[in-house]
Formats: sequence, C-alpha cells, structure tokens
Amino acid sequence: MRTIAWLLCTLGSISTVHANVEKTIFLGPSAIVLPNVRPGIDELDVDTLEPAELPILATQLSVKFPTESAPRGLDSWYLLRGLEEGRRYEVRICWPAFQPTDFWLDTFTITQVDTPELIASLAGYTDRARTSPSQKLRYTADGSSTAQSLLFLRVQAAASYYSTNKTLMQYPPLVDVDIILEPFILNVLPRSLGPAAIYITVVAVAAWFISGYTYRWIIAVSKEYEEKDHKE
Ligand SMILES: *[C@@H]1O[C@H](CO)[C@@H](O)[C@H](O)[C@H]1NC(C)=O
Repeated sequence: MRTIAWLLCTLGSISTVHANVEKTIFLGPSAIVLPNVRPGIDELDVDTLEPAELPILATQLSVKFPTESAPRGLDSWYLLRGLEEGRRYEVRICWPAFQPTDFWLDTFTITQVDTPELIASLAGYTDRARTSPSQKLRYTADGSSTAQSLLFLRVQAAASYYSTNKTLMQYPPLVDVDIILEPFILNVLPRSLGPAAIYITVVAVAAWFISGYTYRWIIAVSKEYEEKDHKE
C-alpha cells in the first residue's frame, strides 16, 4: 500500500496519474527568529518536514465527508522547516486511488497564521493529533535563536465517495498519505524531474548531432548516385 502511494507520489510530477497527487508550489519566506513570534511554535504538536532531513512524511490523515459548514472536510497542519529564503519548493500529497479523497494544500507564514480562524483550525488539529497514534515525528524546539525560514502547511481533506453505510459515512477511515517536500533545481525544475530533464536534454542533443550526421550522409550518398547516373 505504502509503496504504491510512494511510487505514485514520486512519479507524480512526471506521469499522468495526477488523480492521486495534489501539490502546491511556493517560495521560502524570509527567515525569522522564532522566540519572538506568536503563537509559540515550540509548544505545537505538529509533524515537521525539512528538505534536507525529513523530506517525506508517511502518515494517516483524518478525513470527513464534506458538509455545508465544512465543505473541505478536516484540516491537518504541518510545519515546513529549514527552507531557503527565496527558493522555490513544491509540496505534494499522494494517496491511494482506492481511498478517493479531495485535498487542498495551502502554505502560510507565521504572521499569516495569526488569525482567529486559522489559530482555531490549528488548535483543533493538535487536539485531534494528540489522541492519534500515527504522529511520530514531532517538532522539538532546539532552543536556537538563529533566524529560520519556515511555513505552515494546511492540508484540507474531504472524503469523496458515497456509501449507503451510515457508520462509514459518519466515520470515514483514515487515508494513507505521503507528504513530500522538494526544492526546485535552479528554481525551475522539481528535483525529482532533474534526472528526466537531463536525460531528455542528452537525447535531444544526441538526436541533433545524429540528424546532422545522417543529413550529411544522405547528401553524400545521393551525390554519389547522381555522379554515377551522370557517368552512365
Ligand atoms: C459499515 O461500516 C463500518 C465501518 O467501516 C463497518 O464496521 C460495518 O460493518 C459496516 N456495516 C455494514 C452493514 O456494512
């Protein structure tokens, strides 16, 4: 299960199976010194992704069927740390096709999160997460006062199927997801596309040389024939 989701995720940006991949692209915000900001991030119970150390988070997400008051289901929150200011990144979420779900991904700077609505959503999530056994990697304050570039990631997830089973409609099962944080190469290409891009470039350049060679060869051969024709 996990492998399938991961494969889909890794191939996500190349292949056409985007039904199982949702993503958002953003720039690393300017670095800030943590102890001076509100809310106190060091007390938060949220999973963290870091491009260098923890680029992939395999977890399970609570979902809900959409309602009028919550058309996007349930909110889950993550912290994206260790970003580089001004660098372009992509966050992808991948899930198995047999768990049909709608996802919405949004990133917020710490100042943007500081609204009653978002704080309530964040608090609601950490309350839920505390009772869930699936949260493994927790953010721990390292007490450093060096400036960091970080963002909050909000994942909204709504189940998108229908069942006649009322229990299931009320308590849809957790969805297995992989969340992947990836920097772009030269701010242009996602890293996972890098090898493919290099391959395509090599093939294109080779094709160009080969076609030039073939062209000259055809000209040479046809000239040879022409000359032969003239002689005969
Ligand atoms: C309804 O779904 C629940 C939870 O998935 C399951 O335990 C139960 O057996 C299902 N009931 C019926 C009648 O299928």
